[in-house]
Amino acid sequence: MKTQCEMRPLQERPSRTGVPKLVTAATIGLLSLGLAACGSGGGEGGGHKTVFKLAVSQTEEHPQYQAGIELGKRLEEVTDGRYSVQVFGNETLGTSTEVIQNVSDGTVAFMWCGGANVESLNEDFVVYNLPFVFDSMEAQLAVLNDEELNHELFTSLEESKSITVLSGVHAGQRSMYNSKRPIRTPADLQGLKIRVQQSDSQVRMLEMLGGVPSPMSFGEVYSALQTGVLDGAENNEPSFDSMKHDEVAKYYSYTRHLMIPDFLLMSTTVLDDMNEADRQALLDLIPEISAKASADFVPYVEESIENAEELGVQFNDDVDTEAFKELVAPMVDEYMSANALRTDMYTAIKQANEENPAA
Ligand code: GCU
Repeated sequence: MKTQCEMRPLQERPSRTGVPKLVTAATIGLLSLGLAACGSGGGEGGGHKTVFKLAVSQTEEHPQYQAGIELGKRLEEVTDGRYSVQVFGNETLGTSTEVIQNVSDGTVAFMWCGGANVESLNEDFVVYNLPFVFDSMEAQLAVLNDEELNHELFTSLEESKSITVLSGVHAGQRSMYNSKRPIRTPADLQGLKIRVQQSDSQVRMLEMLGGVPSPMSFGEVYSALQTGVLDGAENNEPSFDSMKHDEVAKYYSYTRHLMIPDFLLMSTTVLDDMNEADRQALLDLIPEISAKASADFVPYVEESIENAEELGVQFNDDVDTEAFKELVAPMVDEYMSANALRTDMYTAIKQANEENPAA
């Protein structure tokens, strides 16, 4: 399998309409675009396989990594081998912030991206990142899968960043962990230096909860915990275990303060560069691939808890969740202001919560 884009001489490249393009001054711009997409395997097929890069910050066991592999297989089938996907895990293509830039310039085709990082591109995403906003995974998925509700949001980065949001998926529930003590009440969190994801809402949340927020990229957390730069972090059980944070932070306390989705992002340039039939075939695969990433998360949580327990982690569930909820409740008004889209998103969440209450 070749992972490098094989460009035919430009004179032979068909346009999207099938009419060959000639190299003229006017196509010089297209030439440079084609080269930018080449790194991601962008371009057209015609006997040549294009291999798209998909970046994920997680390890190979993670459902998003596996969903990426599945996407590659299925894409190869439905495009008669013209397109495939190579998945790069463990931030090997860079931190999320760096890869967002690569998706934006078309050198990486896809990435799984945390909601907090997407919020820094368009603050309207914040509604899905608020603490305690979703009551259940089912409620979250009902909202994320509502195409009409999300159309404006998911296409909002196309003009400014050339990034299309293909879907949002369940990425667990996040709780606090640290190396000092179990967290049961907000008083236990006082003064602890806790890593949060890099967005305004995440910093604000931790301040309101009484800890000291330290925004940092995912891959930097382990060494910061190990060297004592951080007292703790907050994440779902799979990231806690797979990133080996459980080697250095032995208290995992079920604050369950967040259920932030992850999003599958695609370079709009690369998407537009596919012929119409192949593009549609790709888009048709997205619901199935996304559902797989969400569903496979559930057993992965169980495995991760077992692994962490073997390493001597103490999980505690005797948390005064209501006290934490009360502290961050003002965030809803702070971030909602008089914004129509955010109000629609929030209204949809409340309805989905009613229809899909916590188990
Ligand atoms: C989770 C989430 C990622 C995110 C990470 C983080 O693992 O799935 O998208 O990047 O947390 O805390 O940075």
